[in-house]
Amino acid sequence: MTKSYHRSFLKWAGGKYRLLPYILPHLPVGKRLIEPFLGSGVIFLNTDYPSYKLNDTNKDLINLYKILKTEKSDFINHAAKYFDQKYNHPDAYYLLRNQFNTSKDIYERALLFLYLNRHGYNGLCRYNKQGKYNVPFGHYTKPYFPADEMAYFYHKAKKATFTCTNFTTSIKKGRQGDIIYCDPPYVPLSKTAHFTHYYQHGFSMKQQEELATMAKNLQQEKVKILISNHHTPLTEKLYAPAKIFAFEVQRNISCKGYKRTKVRELLAQF
Ligand SMILES: C[S@@+](CC[C@H](N)C(=O)[O-])C[C@H]1O[C@@H](n2cnc3c(N)ncnc32)[C@H](O)[C@@H]1O
Repeated sequence: MTKSYHRSFLKWAGGKYRLLPYILPHLPVGKRLIEPFLGSGVIFLNTDYPSYKLNDTNKDLINLYKILKTEKSDFINHAAKYFDQKYNHPDAYYLLRNQFNTSKDIYERALLFLYLNRHGYNGLCRYNKQGKYNVPFGHYTKPYFPADEMAYFYHKAKKATFTCTNFTTSIKKGRQGDIIYCDPPYVPLSKTAHFTHYYQHGFSMKQQEELATMAKNLQQEKVKILISNHHTPLTEKLYAPAKIFAFEVQRNISCKGYKRTKVRELLAQF
């Protein structure tokens, strides 16, 4: 990548940073960008719409964004304290993870969610059945404190509103002139692969179909939708008759360890 793009301040599974050169040319001009599956917000950070409506079902993620949007410097200064090397140790990590899991204070939860994201294993975000965050310690030499990335997110967030709902509620807000970019958990690459679990709930085939149906209906109401997913015979069929753009990218795939392999991605434009 020769052009430099804005990075998110969070590590996030399925982050779109490396795919920006493929995705951005397919996002048309519009009055507002709606993102029902925001994640770490890479598309939001690298586009320039007059306003944004951003959504994700992960309530810790949305809480963190809302707090950064209202607090900026105070929050960044407080968050920096947890990036002292004394907290980069398994004992400190498990104490703070437990503090996060028992805290009801939204400000404290936001501070600790950022700490856990940068100190936990592989930038994973995973909860057990009781909704408790259960990612193990990451063993990084010196976790990076993303002060500049947070400041940029704060600056962009002035034009954004954040919600924590199911994607269907977010998509229903689409009106003529809006652009909707959808980056759902992807369909499995093979029959043996499992659906990706980002939060307590996975994303079922029924939800993939619901998203595709909503996209087809909105197209008739002149709302433009772009959807990312794996390029497979299943997604080709799912999104027909949308315009399909397919391309290959390098990915780290977990299969008994990590393997770098080429994966086919798709963009479906409605
Ligand atoms: C592939 S990630 C998005 C990545 C994002 N584009 C980025 O660059 O970081 C998918 C997101 O969808 C969210 N999600 C999963 N199920 C959802 C649902 N039913 N409704 C809304 N969001 C959902 C997950 O919490 C996750 O953040």
